[in-house]
Amino acid sequence: MKVSGSTATVDYFGEKKTARTDLVAVAEGEYVYAQGGYVIQKVAAPAAEAILATWKETFFHLQDTDVRLSRLALKDRKGNQQLLRILDRALERRPLSVEELLFLLDLPDGQETELLFRTANFLRRKYLGNSCCVHGIIEISNVCSRACAYCGISVHNRGLRRYRMSRQEILEAVREAVVGHGFKALVLQSGENDAVVEDVASVITQARKKMPVLFFVSLGEIGTQALRELYRAGARGLLLRFETSSPALYAALHPGCAVERRIEEIRAAAEIGYLILTGGLIGLPGQAGTEIVADILTARDLKAEMFSFGPFLPHPETPLAGAQPPAESLALKTLAVSRLVDTHAKILVTTGLETLSCSARRAGLLAGANSVMLNATPEEYRRLYTIYPNRAHDEEPLSRQIEETIFLLQSLGRAPTDLGV
Ligand code: 5AD
Repeated sequence: MKVSGSTATVDYFGEKKTARTDLVAVAEGEYVYAQGGYVIQKVAAPAAEAILATWKETFFHLQDTDVRLSRLALKDRKGNQQLLRILDRALERRPLSVEELLFLLDLPDGQETELLFRTANFLRRKYLGNSCCVHGIIEISNVCSRACAYCGISVHNRGLRRYRMSRQEILEAVREAVVGHGFKALVLQSGENDAVVEDVASVITQARKKMPVLFFVSLGEIGTQALRELYRAGARGLLLRFETSSPALYAALHPGCAVERRIEEIRAAAEIGYLILTGGLIGLPGQAGTEIVADILTARDLKAEMFSFGPFLPHPETPLAGAQPPAESLALKTLAVSRLVDTHAKILVTTGLETLSCSARRAGLLAGANSVMLNATPEEYRRLYTIYPNRAHDEEPLSRQIEETIFLLQSLGRAPTDLGV
């Protein structure tokens, strides 16, 4: 690793990556763990060399598998010429018009959609390689003061038992994830309630003294002052979906709230220095395809480090109880089109998409996505964090989720980047 000012250049099997050094001070030549563009831990040379030696062979073997699975041949193909022209342009990273993006999003199931997925997967490998982010999420409280029409932890759900994990409990869950399971990046999420900000700031301050981990916060719209406080405590990422970029649809689903304000808050966070994880809901009742395209472009314009787009899933205790969820293919096409629009962002396969279909994680990773998030919430609380019903993995201990994730990633030739010793 080389250091210049507050930036380190890390060499990972020949790939050069830069990482900032303001969380951990480092010297030239040292071995480090980098995460989300930040150095989060120094690793002693003998340990680092042992890790790299065991990884090396697997790493190249995985890359071979990935190359095999992401091959693409568009030349001399018969079939929909308009589609081929658009995909060709995407492969050259030339911009696509809104009409073209909508055309892709509207493709019927079958061969043409498959070709879109393959193109997205090809671009993912070409620009991002075979690494796959595996972040953990801890849902620290389901107390929420908002009335979002789709959400099962909103004020609409009067019968739900509400919880707030104590600082000690959160710290314990963080320790379990980081020390027990090797997570390097964690999201702390809650419903919107003022009380959690102080707790989260304190937990991050304490955890950072003892553990190598990059924290993302996801506490709703908390205001710039709270964002600054959390940044000072050491948080470096914000997960805040704008949900839908359509002002009319947003206002209809979030009484008394405006999407402009939410987007302003995301911009303010980026200004403070936060990495931005954002996106929207796919298939909301009344949502048009053009609105989904606008959402993808909004995430790109916000320079999202990670796109987080998941399907709307009806919850029985909300005003949208009777509405239909979208088709799995629409959600997958949203990920693929996102990849065509942004070749460098991380794209997440959300738990929502996995809840819609149990094969969706694999399908999403083969349609341009390169990130997953595992649930590191203590199991007793997980079941109370019912944003939608029957969430995937709610009953699986973290160790089992990790095993299955690693198994899937290996079968696809992907290397988990944020998990391990
Ligand atoms: N279906 C899918 N996603 C939902 N969320 C909340 N309710 C639902 C639902 N019914 C998502 C929102 C929020 C995230 C934490 O959970 O997009 O940002």
